[in-house]
Amino acid sequence: MPQFLKLRSALILLAILLVVGASGYLAYRLYEENRSLRTAVSELEGTLQTSEQNIAELTQNTESLSDALSAERTKANFLQEQATSFAAAVQNLTGRVTTLDKLTKIDPELLIKYSKVYFLNEHYTPEALAKVPPSLVRDGKEEYFNARAYRYLERLTSDAKAAGTELRIVSAYRSFDTQKDLKSQYRVTYGVGANRFSAEQGYSEHQLGTTVDFTTPELGAAFSRFDSTPAFAWLRDNAHRYGFILSYPKGNAYYIYEPWHWRFVGVELATKLKTEGKNFYDMDQRAIDEFLVKIFD
Ligand code: DAL
Ligand code: ZN
Repeated sequence: MPQFLKLRSALILLAILLVVGASGYLAYRLYEENRSLRTAVSELEGTLQTSEQNIAELTQNTESLSDALSAERTKANFLQEQATSFAAAVQNLTGRVTTLDKLTKIDPELLIKYSKVYFLNEHYTPEALAKVPPSLVRDGKEEYFNARAYRYLERLTSDAKAAGTELRIVSAYRSFDTQKDLKSQYRVTYGVGANRFSAEQGYSEHQLGTTVDFTTPELGAAFSRFDSTPAFAWLRDNAHRYGFILSYPKGNAYYIYEPWHWRFVGVELATKLKTEGKNFYDMDQRAIDEFLVKIFD
């Protein structure tokens, strides 16, 4: 074989060897590359799985926290409601204690229906009496009125005067014995007819000290005509604002019509009676009793 052919063959062989070697190297590198990529993918898959697990756990924890929060809120609302109703109960109780305390300081007889209904015994006298100024009394003699209710009578008479209406008092507080004597005198003159206008001792509202018989300076002792006076018209329209009511209006079941006889029952009750056009003696005693605590308000 000629020399150049040998050389060409050798070169071709070398080229083949180089190609084979390079291919082998490249295949090896590709294989290695592939393997490391697989490893990386597998690691990433592992990381992804762990992350998914973490997310699932976090979601679960969030749900449990949300449930716990909701349970705490329910508990807090319940406690809030309990606290509110407890505070209301305490307030209610305090109110009742205050009312009871106030009631212990008020004469329980003051709103009782006397006049043939209930009996006020011979030992009853008002807790305190105030002397009515002689200038207000028809004949200047001594007259007394319940001390706690006196300021209402005083305001009534001075406001009436300011409105141009002079009032005079014929009779205010009368003791059991005074009423007894008065009734005996009436009985001598009028016989059983006295029962139409004069209470038996123990049944008169005058014994309470919260009742007055009014007249005017002009009428004096002739107060049976009191209802034709401007003074009566003023009382009819305004007395309730001072807590006074007419005990024996026309057609009442106890006595003759007594336009001069006014009883203090407190502003609230007097105003209710006036507004509703009702009479004190037509009310139920239990309904009246509700107003006792407010009698001096
Ligand atoms: N005049 C009234 C009824 C009384 O005596 O009390
Ligand atoms: Zn009277």
